[in-house]
Amino acid sequence: MKIERVNNERTPIGKATIDKIRADFPILGLQVSGKPLVYLDNAASSQMPQPVIDRIVRYQTEEHSNIHRAVHYLSELATSEYEAARVKVQHFLNAKESREIIFTRGTTEAINLVMHGYGRSFIGKGDEIILSALEHHANIVPWQMLAQEKGAVLRVIPINDDGELLIDEFEALFNEKTRFLALSHVSNALGTISPVKKMTAFAHRRGVPVLLDGAQAAPHQLLDVQDLDCDFYAFSGHKMCGPTGIGVLYGKAQLLERMQPYQGGGDMILSVTFKKTVYNVIPAKFEAGTPPIMAAIGLGAAIDYLNGIGLGNIATYEHELLEYATGKISAMPGVRIIGTAANKAAVMSFEIDGVHPHDVGTILNGDGIAIRTGHHCAQPVMDRFNVPATARASFAFYNTKQEIDKLVDGIRRVQEMFS
Ligand SMILES: Cc1ncc(COP(=O)(O)O)c(C=O)c1O
Repeated sequence: MKIERVNNERTPIGKATIDKIRADFPILGLQVSGKPLVYLDNAASSQMPQPVIDRIVRYQTEEHSNIHRAVHYLSELATSEYEAARVKVQHFLNAKESREIIFTRGTTEAINLVMHGYGRSFIGKGDEIILSALEHHANIVPWQMLAQEKGAVLRVIPINDDGELLIDEFEALFNEKTRFLALSHVSNALGTISPVKKMTAFAHRRGVPVLLDGAQAAPHQLLDVQDLDCDFYAFSGHKMCGPTGIGVLYGKAQLLERMQPYQGGGDMILSVTFKKTVYNVIPAKFEAGTPPIMAAIGLGAAIDYLNGIGLGNIATYEHELLEYATGKISAMPGVRIIGTAANKAAVMSFEIDGVHPHDVGTILNGDGIAIRTGHHCAQPVMDRFNVPATARASFAFYNTKQEIDKLVDGIRRVQEMFS
């Protein structure tokens, strides 16, 4: 079944709309260090608009109860809102069925769920798992733990100096022992958008299932898991205007059905005796215990909000911001952009000659500018570029070119202080 997408793409983001969008985000009115906040740390966590905050408050003031458990009014209401949020995620991803959507704590837990539920059953001694050199630690460490436990082997797709995957080398990594491919859709450290649809098709021609880490893709582009044809897709609510503590694992139903549960407890069972437990059907099989009900409903509201703006509009506007920032920053002497892929999301990692990234972050904070400094939970990427850390500005659809100008002025101030 093809689901009709609900995005309203009628009004592009631009001069006429940006002030209205920004007014939806109360936190953007903050003063930091006596200056208006310039929030450029969206890849770490995005901000929450008022309609999402209001939805959470309404849930807590008028609708809260435990779900799936009682016949009283509040329990039925909370259950139906929680399940409605699942359907919103289904439509957001264009998944075939809502039972293919599992609520998790975030991307990290979603990947760990696949490692435990799929990996421990279907990956064994000598088997090979392919990852890329672009991965966040969340898509490295669980597979390393599995490899250690099972005697499996990790193979890594290398990247070029622009931070793009080397596709010939990717193809050459496959052999009869390859059992799994786990790949970031968009790199959090460099912004590289990888050709995951083609890579998934290549893996499938060799019978290898594919997990895509979509933590940095879901907030920034229209997704279609049926078109990508990936077996698993993971993302986090807090990076897409939703609350922390909620994320999603999409999995093809026939795979989820074959997998072992990740955790045991209430709700994930059909019957329990001391001799034997019969597990529930999907998705309940993977949602043991009381789930983050409020956060799931908040994520549903965040999806409504993003759809109201239009993911296509968001992608176009953020690309304009990226091009503007790239033009300005690449023209600055003594500043090097790290990550210059041809196909890139709105992430700008850079280093300033002779200045440690932490000093850059601290000085910019004095101007009210929030960027990220460090290894961005992607130490192998830092090793590849021979740096201990980078400064990273990451843009969202509520940022402006004026804010990028402030970033550029801030970088100049850093250079002056260290000259
Ligand atoms: C590409 C990528 N994968 C995974 C994660 C982990 O997400 P979370 O901490 O929400 O589980 C992040 C977070 O920065 C990320 O950027």
